[in-house]
Amino acid sequence: MMNSELWLVVPAAGIGQRMKAECPKQYLRISDRFILDITLSRLLDSAPFKGCMVPLSAQDHWWPDSESAKDNRIQTCTGGKERADSVLSALHALDEQADDNDWVLVHDAARPCLHPHDLANLIDTLFEHPVGGLLAAPVTDTLKQAGEGVTPEVEQTVDRSRLWRALTPQMFRFGALRAALESALENGHAVTDESSAMEFSGNMPLLVEGRADNLKITVPSDLALAEFILGRQ
Ligand code: C5P
Repeated sequence: MMNSELWLVVPAAGIGQRMKAECPKQYLRISDRFILDITLSRLLDSAPFKGCMVPLSAQDHWWPDSESAKDNRIQTCTGGKERADSVLSALHALDEQADDNDWVLVHDAARPCLHPHDLANLIDTLFEHPVGGLLAAPVTDTLKQAGEGVTPEVEQTVDRSRLWRALTPQMFRFGALRAALESALENGHAVTDESSAMEFSGNMPLLVEGRADNLKITVPSDLALAEFILGRQ
C-alpha cells in the first residue's frame, strides 16, 4: 500500500455552454491567466504527483497558448462526449504508466480555488483506505423540492441533515475507477462524478469535508467570485 503512486487527471474537454462565453470556461482568464493554468499549477505544486493527464476537446485550439502546454509534468489526450468519457479516456491514456493499486485524483479544470490544505487533507485521510473518496461540503441552505414550471410551487422541504455537495478532487484506486467508469457507461448510468460510478459498482466512498469556497466556475458571475477567493487565499 505504502508505495502507491499518485496520478492526477484534470478533465478539460468541456465546452462550457452555461458561461455564454466565446471560449470554454477553463480558458477564461483570472488576473491574466487561464483558469486551467491556475488549477493545474496549484495542484502540481502542492502534492507529489507521479504524472498528470489532461483530456482536451478535439476542437480545442486554446491549449497551445496555455502555460500548461509548456509544463513537462503534464500530458494530454482527447476527451469524450461527457465528463465521464473524458475521465475514462485519460485513464486509458495512463494505463501503461499507472499500476491498478495506485491512486488517481480527478479534479475539474474549472475549480481553480481548491485550497492546498484540502488537497493534503484528502490525500492523508484516504491514503490507506481501500476505496477512496471525495472532498465534499455539507449543504447549508434549506432545500425545497419544486413542482413544475418557471415559478414552481414548493412540493416539500427536504431534510438536509445528511446531504453534502460533491466537490473535487475525487480520489480512487486507478484500476477500480477505470472498471467502475467502464461498467457505469456500458450500463447507461448518468455519471456526473467519479464517486457515483464507484457507488454503482458497490463501493462506499468516504466524504472528506472540504472548504465550501472550492467553487466550480459555471455561470459568468462565478468568475469574479473565484478571483476574490483566490486573492484572499
Ligand atoms: O460542465 P461541467 O461544469 O460539469 O464540467 C466539469 C469539468 O469537466 C470541466 O472542467 C470540463 O472541462 C470537463 N468536461 C470534460 N469533458 C466533457 C465535459 C466536461 O472534460 N465532455
